[in-house]
Amino acid sequence: MSSDNSFSLSVPDLIQEIRRTTTALNGGGPSDGIGGKSEEVSENDRQKLFDASTKLVSALEGPTSTSWKIVQASAWHAALRTAYKMNLFDAIPRGQKPITAEALGSQIGADPTLVARIMRALTCLGVCDEVEDNEYQHNLLSMHLGNPLLRTIFTGMLDVATPVMPSLPDFLSSIDYQNPTERDITSLLAQSSHYSDDHADLVLFVDFGGGRGQILADVRSEQANLKGRMIIQDLQGVLGDWKSPGNVEVMAYDFFNPQPIQGAYFYFFRHIFHDWPDVECRKILLNTIPALVPNKSRIIIVDAVMSRERQPHYSYCALLDMQMMALGGMERSEKQWRQLIESVGLKIMGIDHPPLRGKPGARTNDSIIEVMLTKDE
Ligand SMILES: C[S@@+](CC[C@H](N)C(=O)[O-])C[C@H]1O[C@@H](n2cnc3c(N)ncnc32)[C@H](O)[C@@H]1O
Repeated sequence: MSSDNSFSLSVPDLIQEIRRTTTALNGGGPSDGIGGKSEEVSENDRQKLFDASTKLVSALEGPTSTSWKIVQASAWHAALRTAYKMNLFDAIPRGQKPITAEALGSQIGADPTLVARIMRALTCLGVCDEVEDNEYQHNLLSMHLGNPLLRTIFTGMLDVATPVMPSLPDFLSSIDYQNPTERDITSLLAQSSHYSDDHADLVLFVDFGGGRGQILADVRSEQANLKGRMIIQDLQGVLGDWKSPGNVEVMAYDFFNPQPIQGAYFYFFRHIFHDWPDVECRKILLNTIPALVPNKSRIIIVDAVMSRERQPHYSYCALLDMQMMALGGMERSEKQWRQLIESVGLKIMGIDHPPLRGKPGARTNDSIIEVMLTKDE
């Protein structure tokens, strides 16, 4: 987002700015849509229009409403978490079939007045449409939030990170507003509240903290002719007696111990480092370095690389960073990633911001950081 004096611009000025942006995007020609002939909006065009529209929404809303929205954010979490607990999203019919609060209440065994109050909070956020008084139907956002996979992820965040948020300010005060660098923060807060290879025996891919292996399952099915062993590592307590489907090996391993798999091509860390402060990340990396073959093995990190140039990615990551802070981790900028990686003698070979599948021009919130142990040959 640009840092000009937009907040002094009037609504008509901002509308003019959006017109100018749209006209510029159309090469000065008639305004037949962003980016001219093509249906696709380039990332750059999308970003410009996003910035201009955000300023307009902000001006229309005004600082009073925006301030209240910020202060009341915890109520959104409570409404959403309650909706998940009540199975509200499943009870609302798919498609454009409205349902009343009464019908919802009898279906899920809840007081219709309470259902109406929860639905009021949600519809004010744009989650579901209220088509008549106390009558609701799904929309794109409610279908997204109700998607079973996302629901599991969001429930986890609402149950783990959200409850410790109120304790975060006191904790930060107790450490004299130093940037938290110890993982201990978790307990403190809890108290207060392409690769193809001919050699099938070689290890191609080690997925650190790989959970139940969705990533490797995807890699195996999308790249069927990949050879080499693929290994998921996670804590014994997480793996239990789970056996991975297909030809992926499962290994109990705590990444605060030396890495037992030597000389793999890829050591893959997805959503691992943002859970930990630098000091612990260094330990994980130092436990991995002895396993690396210089100039060959690669550490692949999939995590956010925060950039002000990319919205709404940046705003999303800024809030995610607060949640990670409450858990002892952090989201990092490119500079912070470079400092972390170089501090243990590794080198960043490249950072990629991959496109979002099925959304031309859009980028995922995750970037791919490729790291190596380099040695002069
Ligand atoms: C945020 S999840 C990421 C899971 C997976 N990589 C993904 O992208 O969906 C963090 C993972 O790290 C694992 N983990 C946490 N501490 C660990 C440790 N000390 N050693 C190995 N895995 C650990 C957790 O069990 C969990 O599966």
